[in-house]
Amino acid sequence: MKIAVLPGDGIGTEIVAEAVKVLDVLDLKFELESALVGGAAYEAHGHPLPEATLKLAKESDAVLFGAVGDWKYDKLDRPLRPEQAILGLRKNLGLFANFRPAICYEQLVDASSLKPELIAGLDILIIRELTGDIYFGQPRGRRTATDGHFPGAEEAFDTMRYSRPEVERIARVAFEAARKRSKRVTSVDKANVLETFQFWKDIVTEVGKEYPDVELDHMYVDNAAMQLVKAPKKFDVVVTGNMFGDILSDEAAMLTGSIGMLPSASLNSSNQGLYEPSHGSAPDIAGKGVANPLATILSAAMMLRFSLNQPEAADRIESAVKHVLASGLRTGDIWSEGTKRVGTREMGDAVVAAITKKTITG
Ligand code: IPM
Ligand code: MG
Repeated sequence: MKIAVLPGDGIGTEIVAEAVKVLDVLDLKFELESALVGGAAYEAHGHPLPEATLKLAKESDAVLFGAVGDWKYDKLDRPLRPEQAILGLRKNLGLFANFRPAICYEQLVDASSLKPELIAGLDILIIRELTGDIYFGQPRGRRTATDGHFPGAEEAFDTMRYSRPEVERIARVAFEAARKRSKRVTSVDKANVLETFQFWKDIVTEVGKEYPDVELDHMYVDNAAMQLVKAPKKFDVVVTGNMFGDILSDEAAMLTGSIGMLPSASLNSSNQGLYEPSHGSAPDIAGKGVANPLATILSAAMMLRFSLNQPEAADRIESAVKHVLASGLRTGDIWSEGTKRVGTREMGDAVVAAITKKTITG
């Protein structure tokens, strides 16, 4: 089993180091190989996704990814910006199915800005299509308008598009996932306005007929954004397009109190996957040793379960994380009165200790 380790920028290097530490104590035989990605790769090689990094990712069973991006690269031409690395990996590896669970840990109910009764026990799964939609649709660019409200003016445009097979395969991923949970899927669209999403809705409905045991409902994205804060526990599996999924998954993440807790998986059709925390590179706290490594550690658990066929090792990591939270250790993002504030490294050490069954201090 080969894992490509791509820490990236900002807090990426700190949090990935903790996840690697956890993988190292599992007594499994992995080959880990690291490479630069994002701004770090741009600095060293002039490109956010160098050939060698892409090659390593392609020939690995899984990619453990930290985060990319920093404000200082905002002025670069778009193809050279750090974000292009993650988009390039998704595209080149065909990682079309993005799993973003939003789970509210019992111990962290108070960390959410929502009332505890709304989010206690929350466990929803957002499945975001990741290689289509307006993110990748061609054509796109800038030109002089020939019609619209201001003919002759400078304009910019992107293309929202989905093909039938793209919608069918993500719909199947959602229905299959729902079968392993509470058998409910909410498909989120904007069929009242957009042709692309009327098409989406029609196809999801068709595929749904193959899954009579799964209950399917449809919701417009604006309403879904509202329902997510009004009554989030009404959702179970949510399936949506790339753009809506980007927005709704950040919203869902914050329901749980801390985006610092949420892992994610992006899979292709052969179960090769990229695993990354749902949060970004947080340049404001980079290098300070205060970032929460748990989302990355939990991403490593997802990697073991989905791509490396090691469900027991995944369970061990997840129980260790729960144990550490129960013992009262918190990084700054999830700290509350009566708990013990620790740094990135101490949090990683505590997870390692819980796995190896040593006593946890604090
Ligand atoms: C995410 C991020 C990315 C996205 C950016 C960094 C390109 O926001 O993974 O949600 O928009 O998909
Ligand atoms: Mg996002």
